[in-house]
Amino acid sequence: MASAAAVAHLLFALFFSVQVVQNKANWGVTYAADKICASNGSTVEMKCTYTYPAGYTVTEEFWCFQDNKNLKVNSDYKDRIQYNCTKERCTMKMADLKWTDSREYRFRFITDKSDGKYTGIPGITLSVTALQVEVTKIRVNESCTKAELKCKSSCTGDVSYVWLKNGEKVTEENPHITSLRFNDSICCALKGQEDYCSASLYAPKLPSVTVSPSGEIVENISVILICSSDAN
Ligand SMILES: *[C@@H]1O[C@H](CO)[C@@H](O)[C@H](O)[C@H]1NC(C)=O
Ligand SMILES: *[C@@H]1O[C@H](CO)[C@@H](O)[C@H](O)[C@H]1NC(C)=O
Ligand SMILES: *[C@@H]1O[C@H](CO)[C@@H](O)[C@H](O)[C@H]1NC(C)=O
Ligand SMILES: *[C@@H]1O[C@H](CO)[C@@H](O)[C@H](O)[C@H]1NC(C)=O
Ligand SMILES: *[C@@H]1O[C@H](CO)[C@@H](O)[C@H](O)[C@H]1NC(C)=O
Repeated sequence: MASAAAVAHLLFALFFSVQVVQNKANWGVTYAADKICASNGSTVEMKCTYTYPAGYTVTEEFWCFQDNKNLKVNSDYKDRIQYNCTKERCTMKMADLKWTDSREYRFRFITDKSDGKYTGIPGITLSVTALQVEVTKIRVNESCTKAELKCKSSCTGDVSYVWLKNGEKVTEENPHITSLRFNDSICCALKGQEDYCSASLYAPKLPSVTVSPSGEIVENISVILICSSDAN
């Protein structure tokens, strides 16, 4: 049977561990997203807010990799990133995304006291992707092409796509779309990045025939007939 002393000890231990958790909770970084998927060449914003205990003054705030070095001193990044840090929130805008930017980004801040340094781990994982339209089903006849298309990226998890038909956003289910007519040109983009659409896909154009030489043709001469269409 537990003695009063043991219970008291347990209560003390519980109290103490709660104190520790609360203390630790004072240092923190909260990211707006843990994963970001973005198109090659586009621009993204990585956002976070942070907290620290009273009695400290923040002297430095920056984004970094595992090495804790400010990306502003990294020659691959310094000209493509911009910080906007005010009042316990810090956003990094990164432009001209490349494949090699696909990695984890962390936010770190440093205070005036030597025990006052903190990095938010894990950070934000960025995936830079190219988008591709894949034809999953197609039915073609003289007057109509109907297809089912799928938007593909290398990003994992919940990715939202939008479709643009002849330059206009269409409301169709993600990531599939159906119904494509002869003269429709269609591409897909990541939601929020409509300016970075995939290569356009369009159904075969109605074939046309050209004859050469053109004009009046007499019996027994040779002619060349060219049948042409276009699609991708
Ligand atoms: C990625 O973007 C770069 C720069 O915009 C471009 O040169 C390259 O062709 C793109 N690659 C793909 C696969 O889209
Ligand atoms: C910086 O962020 C604040 C809000 O957090 C915003 O009002 C301001 O316009 C931003 N500045 C720049 C240069 O983006
Ligand atoms: C072509 O397909 C469309 C849509 O499926 C259909 O309405 C139309 O009757 C078809 N036309 C011919 C000539 O088969
Ligand atoms: C596509 O064809 C339809 C009818 O066949 C026509 O009304 C429309 O203007 C065409 N659109 C383009 C972009 O050519
Ligand atoms: C065309 O060729 C056929 C077979 O060689 C011949 O029978 C016919 O007379 C020719 N016509 C003319 C107008 O030369």
